[in-house]
Amino acid sequence: MGQQVYIFDTTLRDGEQVPGCKLNTKEKLELALKLEALGVDIIEAGFPISSPGDFESVEQIAKAVKNATVCGLSRAVQKDIEVAAQALKYARRPRIHTGIGTSDYHIKAKFNATQDEILTRAVQAVKLARNFTDDVEFYAEDAGRTENGYLARVIEAVIAAGATVVNIPDTTGYCLPHQYGEKIAYLKNNVPNIDKAVISCHCHNDLGLATANAIAGVINGARQIECTINGLGERAGNTSLEEVVMILQQHKDLGFYTQVQTQQLNPISREVSDVMRMPVQPNKAIVGANAFSHSSGIHQDGFLKDAQTYEIINPEEVGAEGSKIVLTARSGRSALAHRFQKLGYQYNRNDIDILYQSFLQVADRKKEVEESDLHAMAKAYTPEP
Ligand code: KIV
Ligand code: ZN
Repeated sequence: MGQQVYIFDTTLRDGEQVPGCKLNTKEKLELALKLEALGVDIIEAGFPISSPGDFESVEQIAKAVKNATVCGLSRAVQKDIEVAAQALKYARRPRIHTGIGTSDYHIKAKFNATQDEILTRAVQAVKLARNFTDDVEFYAEDAGRTENGYLARVIEAVIAAGATVVNIPDTTGYCLPHQYGEKIAYLKNNVPNIDKAVISCHCHNDLGLATANAIAGVINGARQIECTINGLGERAGNTSLEEVVMILQQHKDLGFYTQVQTQQLNPISREVSDVMRMPVQPNKAIVGANAFSHSSGIHQDGFLKDAQTYEIINPEEVGAEGSKIVLTARSGRSALAHRFQKLGYQYNRNDIDILYQSFLQVADRKKEVEESDLHAMAKAYTPEP
């Protein structure tokens, strides 16, 4: 079976930071219960100090969720941590996620501080959080652009202070996969107490690399991935949950597994898209409307002979409606024959050759030839005796 990779879902926190995605407590609670049923290990329910509404959502989710760990975000600030702890009071498995920026951009521009001052604040925050729960995750914001030597010092110190999970965010989505992987490997090899904590990947998608970077992190020693349904999140989004789960599932040779019930991936993607009013792009991997559609003649012919020629995932495995043969002007005779057959028309090769000519005329006029067009073609056609 291999080693487990923990799935930390942050749809309700980083995902909800997207402009226009605001959810109320009821909507958040419903989604949290669906995420739990999906099998995620950790639900980041919100940022309790950010607003009374978010506090209430985290508190309600903490009360309702039974199996998953419920996590609340805080800055490395006393009040934030205390409020997060209060919101998580009823959680069966509470986690406080606290942290601070560690790159020079953050240390100088944001905090006007020194590296040592930031390290001290990080340690104090973790120690304070440990007074409320045994499960404390530390994030080194902008770790992607933090020099590895200093990052290793911070990570060593926060683990010594009691952090049980260390999050290495590529906050700006800047790293290339080999760079992010090397960063995780560097921590594995240079932080003496690293095995006392789980390393977590939190990658953003500014260069379209959030999924690739998270996988590079896991290959190099991380065992938790922070991700969102449909890849929602700040700016270009976060690592997409459905993508990382299916990558680990498809590449079993890597030696990892997750607890996610993959048949629920498409249903939950639709629910998140509806409630957050964020349409999913049609070509989105795993959950896009075209993820299992075949429209060119060459692909359709191969797919109809053996689905595996052009599909690496069985759509049922991810709860998708099924594979689709879409008829366009690029489709071939096998696809046309297949679609006629599905509608109950039995045509021989000669019939299809003739019908294909009228099909092409319709297809050149329309983007997609629909069932009603096929019925009309069949009605107008009289097979030769
Ligand atoms: O992207 C980031 O650095 C974050 C942290 C708050 C974990 O979202
Ligand atoms: Zn983030």
